[in-house]
Amino acid sequence: MKTNRTATITVDGKSFEFPILAGTHGNDVIDIRTLGAKTGFLTYDAGFLSTASCQSKITYIDGDKGELLYCGYPIEQLAENCNFLEVAYLLRTGELPNREQKFKFENTIKEHTMVHEQLVKFFQGFRRDAHPMAVMVGVVGALSAFYPEAAHFSDPEHRAISFDRLVAKLPTIVAMAYKYSAGQPFMYPRNDLDYTANFMHMMFGTPCESYKPNPVLVRALDVIFTLHADHEQNASTSTVRLAGSSGASPFACVSAGIACLWGPAHGGANEACLQMLEEIGDVSRVGEYIKRAKDKNDSFKLIGFGHRIYKNFDPRATLMGKVCADVLSELGLENDRLFKLAQALEKIALEDDYFIEKKLYPNVDFYSGIVQKALGIPTSMFTCIFALARTVGWTTQWEEMLDDPEYKIGRPRQLYVGAARRDVKPLDQR
Ligand code: ACO
Repeated sequence: MKTNRTATITVDGKSFEFPILAGTHGNDVIDIRTLGAKTGFLTYDAGFLSTASCQSKITYIDGDKGELLYCGYPIEQLAENCNFLEVAYLLRTGELPNREQKFKFENTIKEHTMVHEQLVKFFQGFRRDAHPMAVMVGVVGALSAFYPEAAHFSDPEHRAISFDRLVAKLPTIVAMAYKYSAGQPFMYPRNDLDYTANFMHMMFGTPCESYKPNPVLVRALDVIFTLHADHEQNASTSTVRLAGSSGASPFACVSAGIACLWGPAHGGANEACLQMLEEIGDVSRVGEYIKRAKDKNDSFKLIGFGHRIYKNFDPRATLMGKVCADVLSELGLENDRLFKLAQALEKIALEDDYFIEKKLYPNVDFYSGIVQKALGIPTSMFTCIFALARTVGWTTQWEEMLDDPEYKIGRPRQLYVGAARRDVKPLDQR
């Protein structure tokens, strides 16, 4: 909202005033949308370190306090008291559902869990050893061919159906990606199970043996989904907004988000973290790897540490640590080698001056790989689980953007540092 305050920017001796906007929490912003027109200058902010790209009512992060709020509710309270679909409802509507709304929403999602049979053929076009995220990028993008009416996104009803379809079908598609890589038959969804138990059935059940969901493990995975549901304007969410700003199909936009999430600096970190723990192998080698992480001439980074926003602690990492302990205890794996190694690494890094000085703390991905491994999810599927959960945030943010009266196609500018204007010479003179 507008305040009475203004910021003055002086360029070449001339001063220009810009309004200051205030949010509910967090940094106020200088509204520089007229800067270029007024001054002829642009701002330079590679990596968006100081740029708010939109207004949003969905998620708030206080990186210094280690606070994460979904529509005002602390993540700890949501993880404790709500299931993932209640959180999905909250993110989309801004309010938690009452009993009747919860029942209705869960049933609506169940109505959309199956995918078109033709999509099976799409899977069959991939190599069995394709990375599941590569498959996900293709298959989720292909949904836009199955639901062309989603392009009529100015109609709120179409937007609602696209949201329901994406939330309902992502578990089916993720499970299909896994089954395809394992060479096992696809499992149809079971609507007598709740959202997360059904996902585990599609992942771990086979036609020869029905899967009996363990409530402790189902709850653990459901909390993982909640912790990953949204995280304000991170790289993949910004990608979805940017793709959506041109009017692309929501399925194509979510596919773009999946592509961005795949990278090891973002959602691929839990997979990379587990690979790093395997590479370290033993507590006795932790010191060597900490030394490498601190060496400027070594590209090695301690995966699962550091975050662009959280400079104190990542509240999701704290919750994930607890979920990890619950799952390992349920499965009798308290002495799991990688868990012990992760604990040792965390302890040493948290006491090290380099990590303290640079405010590098464990992030959500540090323990999530260990939990998922214990649940029986193969490493290559970890980022798909993240994508499944983040689809709620992506689709909600996409819809919020379309509802924003100030919405415009996203079009960053640049500081051009290439060759100065020159003329093309004929081939034999170059
Ligand atoms: N290990 C060692 N050093 C690190 C690490 C790390 N994990 N993370 C950051 N640093 C150092 C950087 O080298 C840099 O040092 P410098 O000041 O001497 O140049 C300083 O800390 C600041 O780091 P930046 O990379 O500039 O911080 P930024 O906010 O841009 O990056 C990021 C954050 C990408 C998460 C980074 O910390 C990282 O690569 N971590 C490892 C990967 C990871 O765990 N990603 C998951 C993020 S959570 C998520 O996406 C769900």
